[in-house]
Amino acid sequence: MKVVVSIGGSVLVPELGTDRVAEHAAVVENLIGDGCGIGVVVGGGGVAREYIGAARDLGANEIELDKLGIDVTRLNARLLIAALGEGAVTAPAEDYEEAGEALRRGDVSVMGGVAPAQTTDAVGAALAEYVDADLLVYATSVPGVYSDDPNEVDEATKYDQLPAADLVDVIAGLEMNAGASAPVDLLAAKIIERSGMRTIVLDGTDPERISRAIRHGDHEGTDVIPDGVGEEPTYWASDEQ
Ligand code: UTP
Repeated sequence: MKVVVSIGGSVLVPELGTDRVAEHAAVVENLIGDGCGIGVVVGGGGVAREYIGAARDLGANEIELDKLGIDVTRLNARLLIAALGEGAVTAPAEDYEEAGEALRRGDVSVMGGVAPAQTTDAVGAALAEYVDADLLVYATSVPGVYSDDPNEVDEATKYDQLPAADLVDVIAGLEMNAGASAPVDLLAAKIIERSGMRTIVLDGTDPERISRAIRHGDHEGTDVIPDGVGEEPTYWASDEQ
């Protein structure tokens, strides 16, 4: 089974330290050890936001800010690479082809951002589409996809399952509310829809949750179900163990 895991920067590096990174690396290594192919995309988190805020105050334009954000995602990717050891690439892949080649070699592919005007949510979806992954997992700091921003709206409800077309509508609605935070961005939702990619959005602060979702489909997040795919979630244990 081939899986792309997109780990938010605030999940992997809530503050600079080793424990969280080491725990995520251990989960990835266990999955690889059991024969799963893994591509990881790492986000920028709070550090990216701080750099972007400071550079904005200094007069940088949006593309310059995005470039700064990409650099921070790659910095976080290097931290994960440091924890992964020899089974992983030596540096973050800078494009999808490089990441795909690493996967074909059997290495853990790790990358951050690739191009301005998007986030690593879209990178995760595009990498999953490019390598024809069986599953895309968003390890975020929120428990799943909600009808509204749960921090703002008391009645916001979490979706256990969501057709990919509905994900696009939900995210588009959230993004229209200034300040509301969406668990994945709109470009990512559109790529998921067009690629028919089976996707899970979950709280990845405890990396064991990522492992359980991949191995057994067992999670408390949101299953995004593409058109033409059966209701049954795809997970590893069902077809390879
Ligand atoms: P993130 O993917 O971490 O953005 O990239 P985010 O959604 O703000 O982070 P979380 O999910 O809340 O933790 C950080 C920044 O890097 C730039 C963007 O400016 C983004 O906001 N970036 C990232 C790009 O421009 N292109 C990319 O491919 C990736």
